[in-house]
Amino acid sequence: MDIVSSEIEDYCRAHTTDLHPVYDELAKVTYAETECPQMQVGKLEGRFLKLLAQLTGAQRAIEVGTFTGFSALSMAEGMTEDGQLITLDINEESGRIAQAHFDMAPWGSRIERRIGPAIETLAALSGPFDLAFVDADKSGYIAYWDAIVPMLRPGGVIVVDNTLWSGRVLAPESDSDRAIVAFNAHAAKDPRVEHVLLTVRDGMMVARVR
Ligand SMILES: C[S@@+](CC[C@H](N)C(=O)[O-])C[C@H]1O[C@@H](n2cnc3c(N)ncnc32)[C@H](O)[C@@H]1O
Repeated sequence: MDIVSSEIEDYCRAHTTDLHPVYDELAKVTYAETECPQMQVGKLEGRFLKLLAQLTGAQRAIEVGTFTGFSALSMAEGMTEDGQLITLDINEESGRIAQAHFDMAPWGSRIERRIGPAIETLAALSGPFDLAFVDADKSGYIAYWDAIVPMLRPGGVIVVDNTLWSGRVLAPESDSDRAIVAFNAHAAKDPRVEHVLLTVRDGMMVARVR
């Protein structure tokens, strides 16, 4: 199920601020060299992440799920000049593509990659963070949320991707369907945050720490 029709998505993309050329280059390489290039967040969600980084004045941010770096570049672009985004992934191969494009972007030095199972890397980090983005293995979402929310400052924001899972949240069948349903229920009853589940792209849970 398309959450939003492709015509409306196209219209929204056409009415959203243009991207720096490094993103076109990154998309080209990702489509040529990886098996699931559609995992990239793309222009709409990327510009939204950049805007959130600007609105929160993000100086420290954390990401789970670097892949080839589209979302990391987007967030880092909106962060303060001295900002630092720590981005986590388990896959060094896609990370090499990410790093090559971080090196090309004028703001890319704000991004630091960490390789390994995200839950272990998170356990070794300490806050406070201003902004977080989670876009990785769906079975880990509750654990990532529980690790990250206490590290966000009051007023800090966490965004969790794919939370409508192509509409399968309404009729879950697979383990990943059920993981997203369980995550949304977990986030929705968390008294530490105010949250909204947006129909942008594949669904984004956006929450602000009280
Ligand atoms: C949907 S992609 C992220 C896309 C990225 N946000 C972008 O815009 O290009 C999910 C990523 O999560 C990573 N991942 C999956 N399981 C993980 C784990 N246990 N720890 C860390 N990263 C993991 C995968 O290697 C993959 O690169």
